[in-house]
Amino acid sequence: MEEYGEVMEKMDIWDSWNYLEKKEMILGSLGLTSDFLEREIAEISGGQANRVALAGVLISSPNLLLLDEPTNNLDAETLEFLKKFIQEGKFSLLLVSHDRQFLDETIDEILEIDEESLTVSHFGGNYSFYVAEKKKIFDKQVAAYEEQRRKREQLEKAAKALRQKAAKFERFSQNAFYKAKGAKLAKQANIQFKRIQEELNSIPEPKPPKKPTFVVEENEKRGLLAKVFNIFFAYPDQKNLFSNFSFSLNGNERVAIIGPNGIGKTTLIRLILGEVKPTEGEITITKNVGYLPQIPGEVDKSENVIDYFRKQVTVSEEEAKKILGQVLFSDVSYKKISDFSSGEIRRIQIAILFAKRPDLIILDEPTNHLDVYTIEMLEEALKRFRGGILVASHDEWFLRDIKINRLLIFKEKKEILDVKTTPEKISLKSHVYNFI
Ligand SMILES: Nc1ncnc2c1ncn2[C@@H]1O[C@H](COP(=O)(O)OP(=O)(O)O)[C@@H](O)[C@H]1O
Ligand SMILES: [Mg+2]
Repeated sequence: MEEYGEVMEKMDIWDSWNYLEKKEMILGSLGLTSDFLEREIAEISGGQANRVALAGVLISSPNLLLLDEPTNNLDAETLEFLKKFIQEGKFSLLLVSHDRQFLDETIDEILEIDEESLTVSHFGGNYSFYVAEKKKIFDKQVAAYEEQRRKREQLEKAAKALRQKAAKFERFSQNAFYKAKGAKLAKQANIQFKRIQEELNSIPEPKPPKKPTFVVEENEKRGLLAKVFNIFFAYPDQKNLFSNFSFSLNGNERVAIIGPNGIGKTTLIRLILGEVKPTEGEITITKNVGYLPQIPGEVDKSENVIDYFRKQVTVSEEEAKKILGQVLFSDVSYKKISDFSSGEIRRIQIAILFAKRPDLIILDEPTNHLDVYTIEMLEEALKRFRGGILVASHDEWFLRDIKINRLLIFKEKKEILDVKTTPEKISLKSHVYNFI
C-alpha cells in the first residue's frame, strides 16, 4: 500500500496521468505518424531526425529543457508547435539558438558570452530587448567617452595657458620675485597635466563589435533571370512533385520559397539550377548564378584558403586576401581550410558567392547553422545586392531583413501560391494558419 502511494505521488509529480494522450499529441504535432516511426533511422532526412529527437525530449516531461539549435530544419508549422509548447510549459528552459524570431517569442533572459574577454553578461529580456539594450549601453559609453574628451580638452587648454604664462614670467623677468612666481605657475601647470592624465583617461574609446563586411557590387540587374515553363517532375518511383508548374523571376525580384519539410522546395531549386531535369517542360536561367546549397558540399580541407578562394573567383592574390580579411578579421594567407570552423567556412563561401558578381542569387535555408553575426553579414550583403534573389527559408526575421517582395508558398496537394508581398507583411504564422 505504501509503495502504491509512492507511485501515485510520483505520477502526480511527473504529471504522468495523461502520458499517452500527451505522447500522441506531441508525435502528431511533429508530423510523426506510426507508419513513419516504423522506419529505420538511416532512411529518414535530417529535418525528420531532428523532429524524432525533439519528440523524445518533449514527451519526457522535463523540469529543465536544454535545447541546442532546435529550429534548424524545422518548418513553420513545427516551429509554431515548439514555440507554443515552450510558452505554455511549466519547465525551465536553457536555449542555444541563432533564430532571432524564435528567441523573441520563447525566452525572457539572455546570457551573452563575449568571445574576446570570455565574460558572460546577463540581459533581462528577449532578443529585441537585448539588441536595444546593447545599443543603449554602447551609446552611453560613447557619450561618457565624449564627455571625458571634452573635459580633457578644456582642462588641457587651461593648463597650457598656465604654462605659457609661467614661461613669460621666467623669460622676461629679471626680478627674482616674478621668476619664483613663474616657477610656481609652471609647477601648477604640471600638476594639472598630471591630473588630467590620471583622471581623464579612464574611459577607453568604445569600439563597435567587429562585424564581417565586404563590398557588394550595386549594379542593377534587370530583365528575366529565370523561367520555369509548364514543368512536370517526379523522383523515380515517386509521386509528381510538380505538375504543369510555371514561374519566372526578374531582376528586381526577391522571392522566398516557403512550405513544410519535404514538399519540394530544394527540388525546385535543383531543377532551376539544372541539377535535375524536369520530365516535361522547359527551364531557362541566366548564366551568372550564385548558389549556396542547403548542405555545404565537401571541401578539400588541406587546401590553402587563398587558393580555394581564387579557384572559384578570378581575382588577384591581394584582392582575395583583402576580401577574406574582411570576413575573418585576420591575415589568412597561410591558413588551410582545416584551420577554420564550419561557420567560418560558410562565411568564406558567402564571400565567394558575392565576389563572383552574380545576377541571380539562390539560397537554400541559408541561416541554418550560421551564427547571428554571419547571418547579419549575409543580410547586409543581400540588402545592397541589386540582382534577383530566390531563397528557401523558414527564418522570417531574415526574410523581412532582406526585403523579400514575393512569396512562393508550397501548400499540401501540390498547390503553389505565388503572391506579391512587402517585408513588413511577412509572417510565417499567417502561412501556417492559411491567412494569406
Ligand atoms: N534524390 C532524391 N531521390 C528521391 N527522393 C527525393 C530526393 N530528394 C528529395 N526527395 C524527396 O522529394 C521530396 C521533396 O524533397 P525536398 O525538395 O528536399 O523538400 P524540401 O526542400 O521542401 O524540404 C521529399 O519527399 C524527399 O524525400
Ligand atoms: Mg530543402
